[in-house]
Amino acid sequence: MLEKIKETAQFIKNIIHETPDFAIVLGSGLGKLKDEVEPIHVLDYSEIPNFPQTTVVGHGGKLIFGLLEGKKVLMMSGRFHYYEGHDIQTVVFPFRVFHLLGIKNLILSNASGGVNPDFNVADVMIINDHINMIPEHPLRGKNLEEFGPRFVDMSEPYNRQMIKIARNTAENLGITAHEGCYVALQGPTFETPAEYGMIRAIGGDAVGMSTVPEVIVAKHQGMECFGISIITDVGGPDIAFTVSHEEVLAAADKAMPNVIKIVKGVVKNYNS
Ligand code: HPA
Repeated sequence: MLEKIKETAQFIKNIIHETPDFAIVLGSGLGKLKDEVEPIHVLDYSEIPNFPQTTVVGHGGKLIFGLLEGKKVLMMSGRFHYYEGHDIQTVVFPFRVFHLLGIKNLILSNASGGVNPDFNVADVMIINDHINMIPEHPLRGKNLEEFGPRFVDMSEPYNRQMIKIARNTAENLGITAHEGCYVALQGPTFETPAEYGMIRAIGGDAVGMSTVPEVIVAKHQGMECFGISIITDVGGPDIAFTVSHEEVLAAADKAMPNVIKIVKGVVKNYNS
């Protein structure tokens, strides 16, 4: 695995030659951010050695290196989910590569179900903590000493300074942004009423199927992380609800302009 990570990193280095300031994962709600970047190099996942391939037909992923708000960014358009059948090492492989590229900061977005009763569909939530309930842990097994320690401090999973910048950006633009705890389950089913109740009971504000494995690996490597979630539906034991993929996509599209503005604020104003 280590050799593969090194080979992939070397391949990308030989093309981009520079160290990006941020890696950005274009999850649901951030897809159109790629239209705002000044692209310098665009690589199809299929041309990058050892890179995982997306399972969605017609949506081959792309790695986009370019400038956003004057900063160098490496964007992942197309991410890998555990529910697709990838093992967890495949899900986090790109993030191992990002460390060898020298990237220190990671930004991720996702779509999630809201369990905090104050949340409405198409709201945004700045992630300030998480609970990992995905059954396979990305750091289980022999520790990769070159990347980080065996036992990883997780006292600040999401960078406080970036959260503050995001909060200020939202406030200045008149965007309502909640803050809260994201709980990651493996999916691919959406939650039952009782499961939504459990998420709330354990301290979650929103629930989804991504982000947390990537953040764990990033923290192992000493990276700083920022995560933002779009509330695409709300559920709970005492409310009538249904969830469909179409509704999730529609709500993500509705909130996308706000998410993009907040992320651009973080990219512009966070200097590590
Ligand atoms: N659970 C519930 N609702 C959602 C999710 C999820 O994982 N993702 C997007 N909306």
